[in-house]
Amino acid sequence: MREKILEVIDSGSSQGWLMIDHNYTVIYANESICQWLAQEQVDFIGSSLCDVIQQQKKHPISGQLHSPLIETMKVGKELIRRECYLSVQGRNKWFLTNTYLIAGEAGKLEYVLADYVDIDRYKKIEANLDNINLSIIRSFAEAIGARDSYTKEHSEGVAELMLELAQYMRMGQHIVGRVYLAGLVHDIGKIGIPEHILNKPGRLTAEEFAIIQQHSAIGASILANINGFEDIARAVRHHHERFDGSGYPEGLSGLEIPLFSRMLAVCDTFDAMTSARCYRQSYPPGEAFAEIRRCSGSQFDPAISKAFIEMMYYRQADKKLKL
Ligand SMILES: [Fe+2]
Repeated sequence: MREKILEVIDSGSSQGWLMIDHNYTVIYANESICQWLAQEQVDFIGSSLCDVIQQQKKHPISGQLHSPLIETMKVGKELIRRECYLSVQGRNKWFLTNTYLIAGEAGKLEYVLADYVDIDRYKKIEANLDNINLSIIRSFAEAIGARDSYTKEHSEGVAELMLELAQYMRMGQHIVGRVYLAGLVHDIGKIGIPEHILNKPGRLTAEEFAIIQQHSAIGASILANINGFEDIARAVRHHHERFDGSGYPEGLSGLEIPLFSRMLAVCDTFDAMTSARCYRQSYPPGEAFAEIRRCSGSQFDPAISKAFIEMMYYRQADKKLKL
C-alpha cells in the first residue's frame, strides 16, 4: 500500500509531500519539502518528525499545533486545506496542507501522508494589511479618546468582551479579530456629535436624543471609506437595532440584524452598566446580567444573550469573581 502511494507521488512536484508512520518517523519526504524545511533528504527520512518540527508548540495567532501530520495521526481524522506554520531550525514558513489517512494490510491506521503548498508570501501580505488596518483603527480610538475619555475606555471594554464572546462562540481566528475591531470602533460616530450633548450630565431632550442616535450611521459612513471594512461598517451602523425591530437607524429585526451588531448590543449594554459615569455609579454585574436576561428576545438576540451569560459564568468560575 505504502509503496503504491509513493509511486503515485511525483518527487519532482512543486508541491511538498511528507509521510510518517505511527511512531511519527518520516518515511517519505520529497525534494520540495526538504528544500523548504532546509533538510537533507537522506537525513530527514528515518528521523522523528517530533525532533525536526516544534510540533508541541501552538502558533501564537492560529492557536494550532505546528504539525497537521502529527495531529492527524493522534486524532485519526483527515484535515482539509489547513493552514499551518512550520518552524524548523529558526526558519518559519506558512503552508496550506491536506492530510490523508493510510491503513495497513489489517485495516489499521499505519501512515499519514500530507501535501504542502507554500503560502508564506500571501500570509505575509495578509499580515501586513491587517497591521495597516489595525493602525487606522487605533488612530480612530485615539481620536475618540482625545474628545471623550469615557467612550475610549468603554470601546476598549466592549472590544475585550466581544473578543471573549467570539472565542466562546467558537468563531474562526480571523473572525475573532474582526469582532474585536468592531468593538473598538462601534461608537466612532460620536466624533460627529456636539460635545455639550455627548457629555450632558442630565436627562436629554427628545431633540438631543435624536442627535445622539445619529452616531451609529455617522460611524458607519466614516468606516465605509476604508477598503475591506465593509463588515465592520455594517456592524457599527446597526449596533443599536433591537431584536424586536424597535431600534435604530433602520428598525431591522431578528436575524436581519448583522451578527456582529447583535453581539455588540449585548456587550455594549453590559460594559455601559458596569462602568461608572459622572452622573451615576456603576451597577453590580448581577444587575447587568438580570437586565440582559430581562431584555432577551426584545432588545437582544436570545441565543447571543445566553452565550454571553454562559461565557461570563465560566469566566467567573475561572477567575473566582463574585458576580
Ligand atoms: Fe453606540
